[in-house]
Amino acid sequence: MDLGEALSAEAKLRPTEGGGKDPPEAKSFGKSSAEDVKRREMPPPPVTNCYVSILDRVCRGRGADMMQNALKTSGPYDELHVYEVEGRLEGFPHSWSEEGFLGCWYEGDYSFLFFCAPREGLVRGFLDGRPEARLRTAVVLPYEEWEAGGPLRPFRVGPLWVLPPWDGAEPQAGEQVIVLDPGVCFGSGHHPSTRACLDLLVGLYGRARPRRVLDLGTGTGILALAAARLGAERVLAVDLQPLAVETALANVRRNGLEDVVEVRLADAAQLLGEPSDLILANLSYDLICRLLERPWRGTGCWWIFSGVVGAQVERLKERLASLALKILEVRGENFWFSVLASSARQGGNVKSFVSGPGA
Ligand SMILES: C[S@@+](CC[C@H](N)C(=O)[O-])C[C@H]1O[C@@H](n2cnc3c(N)ncnc32)[C@H](O)[C@@H]1O
Repeated sequence: MDLGEALSAEAKLRPTEGGGKDPPEAKSFGKSSAEDVKRREMPPPPVTNCYVSILDRVCRGRGADMMQNALKTSGPYDELHVYEVEGRLEGFPHSWSEEGFLGCWYEGDYSFLFFCAPREGLVRGFLDGRPEARLRTAVVLPYEEWEAGGPLRPFRVGPLWVLPPWDGAEPQAGEQVIVLDPGVCFGSGHHPSTRACLDLLVGLYGRARPRRVLDLGTGTGILALAAARLGAERVLAVDLQPLAVETALANVRRNGLEDVVEVRLADAAQLLGEPSDLILANLSYDLICRLLERPWRGTGCWWIFSGVVGAQVERLKERLASLALKILEVRGENFWFSVLASSARQGGNVKSFVSGPGA
């Protein structure tokens, strides 16, 4: 998902010592308190789209409305220290877990190392034997600025009650609880695209019971967990980021849903053939279109597409209609749109999809 749009006008990075000027793209980094964000570029100061892309990926705009009445909480870490390295890094020492290493996110040829404490020396030491890799930038920001633009708070969607593990709230009897630690991955539930998916999921399970669910681009696993709590019997959740897979897996275990939700490291395109009654795709318009060009051999009855902005939704609707998918509902908030669609004959053979271009 290209996620820069929502926040790009809202916050500016503040260069610190040795920083020089902000690269023109590096405008957005959080929602409300961007003054707290510090960024240092390593000489020579690079300008990379990757940098903006990864930060915006996880920092998209968050609606404050759903959090207004929620409990006051704080995050699991005070600060995030993010080291952007040119080059694809792997094989991090196990001992790093004791140094506050949270994981690595890949964006093109760049690796973003996340720590909850300053660890530039550690990173530089790791890079010593890797001449092909170069530390490009170092960023420090409050954890609260990373995902939600404020403290992560519990929220309800229909019967679902999503709680951070550090919240300490006591679920009431009969509540469908999802304990979710987003870490540094996308999918806290506070972004309009995720929230709309949750709303559509709750509405769908109110009138149908998709048993097998495919969650493409699971991030924290939030939609997969929601589907499981709402009654799905088998959920396959995939992401191409190892860090997202680790995060989603931890959340699945935290909720005791290992028997229902399987998390796999894979490209969404590889999983399209999996039999499923419901496919969730909170990705981006471009990626959704690319996926729609491929043969969808699943027996899918319902689809929820999200991560679509502005006028893209009209183009997506046309595309879905050309594939004989019926649009059941469209949700829009702050220019983010989500679509619930079904095959013309729910439960039947989605032949037009199966034999679409490339089949
Ligand atoms: C916007 S997040 C959605 C997270 C979560 N499903 C939600 O609704 O909040 C998109 C996720 O898709 C993943 N992703 C992007 N391209 C992908 C691809 N081709 N295959 C699998 N996952 C992909 C990203 O790593 C990211 O975790």
